[in-house]
Amino acid sequence: MLSMKSTLLFAASAAAKIYYAGVAESGGEFGVYSADAINGTGLPGRFGVDYAFLNASTVDIWVDQNKINTFRVAFLLERMCPLAYGLGARFNETYFGYYNDAIEAITCKGAYAILDPHNYMRYNDPSQQPATGSVIGNTSDPAAATTAQFQAFWEELAGRYKTNERVIFGIMNEPHDMPTSLVLQNDQAAITGIRASGAKQLIIAPGNGYTGGHVWNSSSQGDAPSADYMYKLRDPINNTAIDIHEYLDYDFSGQHSICNQSFPANMYGLTEWLRTYQLKAMVTEFGGDNNTMCDGYLTQAVEYMGENPECKPTIRRIPLCHIGPGMLTGRISAADIGWTAWAAGPIWGTQSPCCTDSRALGSLEPGSRASDGSPGLYYTVWEKVLERLVPRGLQRSGISSIHG
Ligand SMILES: *[C@@H]1O[C@H](CO)[C@@H](O)[C@H](O)[C@H]1NC(C)=O
Ligand SMILES: *[C@@H]1O[C@H](CO)[C@@H](O)[C@H](O)[C@H]1NC(C)=O
Ligand SMILES: *[C@@H]1O[C@H](CO)[C@@H](O)[C@H](O)[C@H]1NC(C)=O
Ligand SMILES: *[C@@H]1O[C@H](CO)[C@@H](O)[C@H](O)[C@H]1NC(C)=O
Ligand SMILES: *[C@@H]1O[C@H](CO)[C@@H](O)[C@H](O)[C@H]1NC(C)=O
Ligand SMILES: *[C@@H]1O[C@H](CO)[C@@H](O)[C@H](O)[C@H]1NC(C)=O
Ligand SMILES: *[C@@H]1O[C@H](CO)[C@@H](O)[C@H](O)[C@H]1NC(C)=O
Ligand SMILES: *[C@@H]1O[C@H](CO)[C@@H](O)[C@H](O)[C@H]1NC(C)=O
Repeated sequence: MLSMKSTLLFAASAAAKIYYAGVAESGGEFGVYSADAINGTGLPGRFGVDYAFLNASTVDIWVDQNKINTFRVAFLLERMCPLAYGLGARFNETYFGYYNDAIEAITCKGAYAILDPHNYMRYNDPSQQPATGSVIGNTSDPAAATTAQFQAFWEELAGRYKTNERVIFGIMNEPHDMPTSLVLQNDQAAITGIRASGAKQLIIAPGNGYTGGHVWNSSSQGDAPSADYMYKLRDPINNTAIDIHEYLDYDFSGQHSICNQSFPANMYGLTEWLRTYQLKAMVTEFGGDNNTMCDGYLTQAVEYMGENPECKPTIRRIPLCHIGPGMLTGRISAADIGWTAWAAGPIWGTQSPCCTDSRALGSLEPGSRASDGSPGLYYTVWEKVLERLVPRGLQRSGISSIHG
């Protein structure tokens, strides 16, 4: 049964375009966790021991063999801007130098690099991330860095990359448990700072609630929905997209090996919202375990991002067709411009970045092994499921942009 609304949606549908696809490189933020929440653990940390950004040899593998064009590279704000300096324009040049080596390895190879301050919109105590640290811009907390400091940080960082067209600015990893109005305020300050530096590349801006797509339209931990605020972001050159994280396990945490959350159903509200405000999104974290159930859910997630399809024949085995008028009858126009899977990285070892109920099944790092020596998630999830879903015709040159 076609409703008028869905007929119009169908008529208005356009072919989707994914310009950016690849993996997250996680490791630059490692080494600060303390079971006793001892403030300062792992700071500044030892490069190559406590933390590392990527193995440059794997960039060749990813680009040449896996045909991806995008890497999201995590770093820690307390290392880039040591507490002794405070958050702002003064960097630890040694740490920045290591990070820059990683970014240049990617962009000199012709791929795009998303800069990812992996700080949950907090600064000063990463000892039990995501819980610890003062929320940036919390004026009731004398220890908190200010929104102006965050703006100064981004103006400096973006200025250093304004001539590198293959950089993408990821404002912040997973803000949560804070006023949504403050997420908006900090995001806006970052955009303002980035543009003030003269940088024109793509920016991706997160919402609240760990920037989960499934909570975009609903309140998260009592905070207002991201949908009520994030359309207010203003970028003078209109080159900002929304940064989304979306896992497939029952609590969306990416910690469980059973996939049973429908990506299309959970992204539906967000997708409608993006359409309403003519915005685009990039999904910079998602993942699944190496079982046949997750294979189907992961495939469906990537296909949805590429086409926003519903109930395609290939995925009929998963009952998902009861989620809304647009979903029942046709396509809604594409709203996603890219994705990066969670996660590769040089120092995961046999540990797993997501989705394994804490079993050590390895990571998406090429060469990865599980703790029993058998193939890691690079082989059992990336090569088996995700690699064939990397779209052809990804952007290979020119400035990063919502328009590709
Ligand atoms: C870097 O990656 C290459 C290619 O996978 C691998 O041969 C090498 O052992 C890796 N180096 C480190 C230090 O992990
Ligand atoms: C800057 O980083 C280097 C390398 O990790 C470290 O040795 C040094 O102590 C850091 N400086 C500050 C002020 O944190
Ligand atoms: C961690 O220590 C720094 C000073 O080194 C301080 O500014 C910050 O408030 C501390 N964080 C917490 C949560 O105690
Ligand atoms: C802001 O700081 C105050 C005072 O430390 C604290 O009670 C409040 O929980 C903080 N707000 C957030 C969102 O962390
Ligand atoms: C940005 O988008 C707004 C709203 O569509 C439009 O009014 C404005 O002219 C655009 N600015 C640029 C630089 O394209
Ligand atoms: C989803 O998986 C979890 C285990 O991770 C299980 O407890 C839950 O019952 C499942 N939910 C459904 C609807 O299948
Ligand atoms: C989500 O909110 C937007 C407006 O903020 C609205 O256009 C959209 O229909 C909503 N979607 C759902 C599923 O509630
Ligand atoms: C997942 O990977 C591990 C390590 O390679 C392997 O032992 C296990 O059988 C795989 N699970 C499935 C369901 O294939």
